[in-house]
Amino acid sequence: MSAQEGSATSPASLWPLITGYMPARVVHVAAELGIADLLATEAKTADALAQEIDTAPVPLRRLLRALASIGLVEERESGRFALTAAGSQLRSNVPGSMRNIALMFGGERAWRSWGELLHSVRTGESGTRRVYGVGSFEYLAAKPEQAAIFNAAMAENTGRITELLVSTYDFSQFRNIVDVGGGNGALMAAILAANAGVLGTVFDLPSGMAQAQQNLADAGVAARCEIIAGDFFRSVPEAADAYVLKYVIPDWGDAQSIAILSNCRDAMHEAGKILLIERVMPERMEATPIHQRIAMADMNMLAMPGGQQRTEQEYRDLLSSAGLSLERITPLPGSEISVIEAKRG
Ligand SMILES: C[S@@+](CC[C@H](N)C(=O)[O-])C[C@H]1O[C@@H](n2cnc3c(N)ncnc32)[C@H](O)[C@@H]1O
Repeated sequence: MSAQEGSATSPASLWPLITGYMPARVVHVAAELGIADLLATEAKTADALAQEIDTAPVPLRRLLRALASIGLVEERESGRFALTAAGSQLRSNVPGSMRNIALMFGGERAWRSWGELLHSVRTGESGTRRVYGVGSFEYLAAKPEQAAIFNAAMAENTGRITELLVSTYDFSQFRNIVDVGGGNGALMAAILAANAGVLGTVFDLPSGMAQAQQNLADAGVAARCEIIAGDFFRSVPEAADAYVLKYVIPDWGDAQSIAILSNCRDAMHEAGKILLIERVMPERMEATPIHQRIAMADMNMLAMPGGQQRTEQEYRDLLSSAGLSLERITPLPGSEISVIEAKRG
């Protein structure tokens, strides 16, 4: 069916929604093949690229044309393909890189887990559990290569909001902060770099923070940061002023979330704070880009870890069940992320 046929027979906005997995798949294959890195310094023909990556040239040319159609490369008259600014975000190890995000969302687990969405909607069981028989973090603990992609993707995603976060929220009010489920330390590195008087701890499963030491050293803050491995369902490091949890609570159902939050409450100073850095689900959904991002993140929680995004009231109730009270919500301007502050009580 041609694109024209699509626009003649469907409302304009429905066609890209129905076929949305096609460009997503094209981007994922480009990321797997490392095309952006190979085009980083010069434009190349499909034949030249095919030789470098040992791929059949004709289908590779078709992939490059598809990438050109979505603006990630540009097809030149010479038959060479050049990287665009948007395509450059698929390069590895450049500021603003989204390569690991593309590898993660297009990777086998996401693909197969989302493939079970109908089952998940019918039953509430996550796609990951249905396909692999384990939860997300058990799966990642058993697959170090996948864990490395996941952790790097989380850090890439975190990197997109750290500047906004540290300029909007005053972390200098705390002497010491624990990042619970802090992954490979991207958030803590940014907090410490922006607040010279603060001490930090990154706390996570061993599989979640394999790169933390290196990232904190690269950011020049390793001397002010401890790295502690552990299980937040058992306990978290004691006596900090603030416990940050970013993108952690939505991974879990209510009972598990209350267990994590209760352990943070038990560990913190009497006047300590808990800071959830999260999307807040609107009470009523509208067709806006921000609402769409939150709703799709919620579907992703259903498909992958089996958790959910929550409304303000749901966060209030959850926190209250853990002996905490929601004090304030500070939205990060222009983003769908907020800082949700809670204290004992
Ligand atoms: C969605 S990731 C968020 C990572 C990081 N906070 C960020 O926003 O980039 C959830 C994190 O929780 C960690 N995690 C999962 N189960 C855990 C457990 N039982 N104890 C400690 N950390 C855990 C994972 O390893 C992972 O780093």
